[in-house]
Amino acid sequence: MAKEYSKYFTKPSLLDARKRKNEEVSLIDYNNFDLINNFGVNKTYKINTYGCQGNEADSEAIAGILEKLGFTESVELEDADLIILNTCAIRENAENRVFGNLGNLKKYKKNNPDLILGICGCMPQEEKVIEKILKSYPYVDLVFGTHNIYKLPEYLETVLLSKERVIEVFSQEGSIVEHMPKIRANTKKAWVNIMYGCDEFCTYCIVPYTRGKERSRKPEYIIEEVKELIKEGYLEVTLLGQNVNSYGNDFTDLDYRFKDLLNDLNKLDIPRIRFTTSHPKDFDLETVKIIAKGGNLMPYIHLPVQSGSNSVLSKMNRKYTKESYLELVEYIYKYIPNASITTDIIVGFPTETEEDYQETLDLVEKSRFEGAYTFIFSPREGTPAAKYENTLSEETKKERLYELNRKINDGYLLGNQRFENKIVKVLVDGQSKNNSEVLAGYTENNKLVNFKGDSSLIGSIVDVKIYEAKTWFLLGEYIG
Ligand code: SAH
Ligand code: SF4
Ligand code: F3S
Repeated sequence: MAKEYSKYFTKPSLLDARKRKNEEVSLIDYNNFDLINNFGVNKTYKINTYGCQGNEADSEAIAGILEKLGFTESVELEDADLIILNTCAIRENAENRVFGNLGNLKKYKKNNPDLILGICGCMPQEEKVIEKILKSYPYVDLVFGTHNIYKLPEYLETVLLSKERVIEVFSQEGSIVEHMPKIRANTKKAWVNIMYGCDEFCTYCIVPYTRGKERSRKPEYIIEEVKELIKEGYLEVTLLGQNVNSYGNDFTDLDYRFKDLLNDLNKLDIPRIRFTTSHPKDFDLETVKIIAKGGNLMPYIHLPVQSGSNSVLSKMNRKYTKESYLELVEYIYKYIPNASITTDIIVGFPTETEEDYQETLDLVEKSRFEGAYTFIFSPREGTPAAKYENTLSEETKKERLYELNRKINDGYLLGNQRFENKIVKVLVDGQSKNNSEVLAGYTENNKLVNFKGDSSLIGSIVDVKIYEAKTWFLLGEYIG
C-alpha cells in the first residue's frame, strides 16, 4: 500500500468547476505520448464502472492505457493487483453504492497489501467526496477525476514504483484528448464520444460540475474513429454527449452541427448509428428530417423531459415548455412514423405540487413513450436545487414514482405490441441470461428480443419474426 503523499495532491472545487471561460479548447494527441513503461507486466487489473455511457467509454480508455502498460484484465476482482472504481455522482444512492463497495474492498487490501486501489470518474470531482476518502478510506491509493485519465501512466508509476499516494483532480479543463488507446467492452457495438462536458446547468444536476465545459470533438476525428470501427467489423455506433443537439455550438471556426454529423455518418457503411442524449431545447426540425432519412440512422430517440409541468421545468432550468416538448414529439412521429421515444423523468422535485405531477402524467400519455428511466429527486450538494425547500414527504414521492412507473410500463407494452407478427432486424448480443438455448439482441427501435437460434448468429444482424410481446421484451422466431 502507498504510504506517503506524492507531489500529486490537487483537490477539486465545485465553485471553480462552475466557471466557464472563453479559452480555446486545447487538443492533446495521445499519439504523442510514449507509453514505453511496462511496469504493468505480470500484473492484473479490474475496473468497476458505475453511471452513464460516458463512464463506460472512459473505462474503455482506462483499460486501453493499462493494457499498453502491460497489465492484463483479471477474471476475478479478488485476484486483481489493481482495482479502479469509475464512479457516478448523479444521485445519492449511486454514491452510497460506491462507498459501500470501497468498504468491502478493504478486506482485499488486508489479504493483499500490494493491491492498488483507485477511484476515478465523477465522484472525486466533488470536494466532499475527497474529504470523505481522506478521512474514512485512507487505504485508497489513487484518486483522479474526469479530466486527467490521460495522466494515468505517471500516476501509476508514482503509486507502484515510489509507493506514494496520488490525489489529483482538476476542476477546470478545456481540453480534448484524441487517440487514447481503447479496449472496448463489445466487439460489435461501440461508444463514440462526440462531445464532452455540459453547459446546461439544469438546477438539480451535478454533471456540468463534474464534467466541465462543453467541448465538441472535431468532425474529422469522429469520422476517422467510426471508419476505423467499420474496418474492425463493428455494426453499431452510439454517439455520446450530454446534449448531442448542441454539438458544434462551441466551434469558433467551423459551421458544422449535429445534423451535419448525422448526414455525414449516414453515408458510411455501418448498419446502425444511435445517439444519446438528446435535449428537447436544442432538437430542431432539420435534425428530425435527417433522422427521417433512415438508412443507418436508427428510429429510436431518448428524449428526457424530466417533468410535464411548466412551473417545474422552469425551476429546473430546462428552457422548454410542456407545449414545445409535445410539439417536438409530434414532429418526430410525423416525420419518423415508426419512431420509438423514451424519456427520463424526475418526480418529487422541490415544490412539485399534485397539479404539477398530474401534468407529468398527462404529458406521458400524450407522448406515447415506449419506456423511461424514472427517478426521485436527489439533492446534490453545490447545485441550486439542493437549496430549494423540500415540501414533500418521502411517502408522497414514492407514491408518485410508483404510479408513474405503472403508466410507463403500459407504454412499454404498447410499444412492444406494435411489433407483433412483424419481421424485425436484430443485432444478436449473446445468449439470454436465463436460458442458454435462447439468443438475445436489440431491434432498430432498441427493443430486446429473445429467440431460439444457434450461437453462431451472435454478433450478426438477423431477421426475426415476432410472435409475442411482453412488457420488457419480445419473443420471436429466427427467419434468416
Ligand atoms: N444529459 C442528459 C441526462 C444526464 S443524467 C439530459 O439532460 O437528459 C441522466 C438522468 O438522471 C437525467 O435525465 C435526470 O432524469 C436524472 N437526474 C439527474 N440529476 C438528478 C438528481 N439530482 N436527482 C434525480 N435524478 C437526477
Ligand atoms: Fe445534467 Fe441538464 Fe446537462 Fe443533462 S443537460 S447533463 S440533466 S445539466
Ligand atoms: Fe454519473 Fe457522471 Fe455520467 S455523474 S451519469 S457518470 S456524467
